[in-house]
Amino acid sequence: MKHFLKLLDLTTEEILELLDLADQLKLQKKQGIEHPILKGKTLGMIFEKSSTRTRVSFETGMYQLGGHALFISSKDAQIGRGEPTEDTARVLSRYLDGIMIRTFEQEEVETLAKYGSIPIINGLTDFCHPCQVMADLQTIREHKGKLEGLKMCYIGDGNNMANSLIVGGLKVGMSVSIACPKDYQPHKDVLDFAAQYGDKFQMTESPLEAAKNADVVLTDVWASMGQESEQKIREAAFAGFQVNDELMAVTNEGCMVQHCLPAHRGEEITAEVFEAHADEIFDEAENRLHAQKAILVKLMAD
Ligand code: CP
Ligand code: NVA
Repeated sequence: MKHFLKLLDLTTEEILELLDLADQLKLQKKQGIEHPILKGKTLGMIFEKSSTRTRVSFETGMYQLGGHALFISSKDAQIGRGEPTEDTARVLSRYLDGIMIRTFEQEEVETLAKYGSIPIINGLTDFCHPCQVMADLQTIREHKGKLEGLKMCYIGDGNNMANSLIVGGLKVGMSVSIACPKDYQPHKDVLDFAAQYGDKFQMTESPLEAAKNADVVLTDVWASMGQESEQKIREAAFAGFQVNDELMAVTNEGCMVQHCLPAHRGEEITAEVFEAHADEIFDEAENRLHAQKAILVKLMAD
């Protein structure tokens, strides 16, 4: 594993190894055992979109690992004024030990990896959000004691979260069921990947059908970053694609709810369901820190 660009690139073993390492690092943190594995290393963090969790968890994670993180806003850097990604990659590779990037096009992340000579981590693109899904899998395994054989259900937009959840869930042996409106389906590459898994993958336009006997229900905003102007159209398209009490009633007993956050109560999830599952959702947010530290260690340790 040289980079962390998308879950499609990882084997099941690599995903599980990262989850085990994330659990170990979480335990060390809780026990107050220092772990300066990345002493003297610097991570550059390029942001072309807003962030609370990703920025703070990566920056804190690098500090806890004995290294340093540098926030690079595309608004202030030359990359935001059109300097080619190919050149940015080669310049930053001369200073840094790794780059985390949050941007629009997946291609930009792949280009950084192609032209740079240091590990690249995808901190969200329009195509996928692999760091988030590592945290989700860590949280589900903590609460359920296993991943294999569980049913994951995703309700809503076939966006970056849906794409990563489908790939991550199937790779670790879960069955994955997704409900989305027909014009908002996941990416074709992800659907092609999922097709290999036969009836372990289901896609429907009926949220209740997707949620039946689920062990974990996930959702995400109806309009992602960059789609703000489509908010009204999307509100109409996604009406009914909500995680609410009626939907939770058809899931398995003890069914978890996960949300990558930020959440829009009254849209993709009701306030009632959100609050009833708040502990699980904030464990998920916390696990961004531990899961990403595992990725940083795996890619950047000597
Ligand atoms: N879930 C997530 O990636 O949050 P931020 O946008 O706050 O980083
Ligand atoms: N789908 C959302 C996820 C935010 C963490 C977005 O891309 O805005």
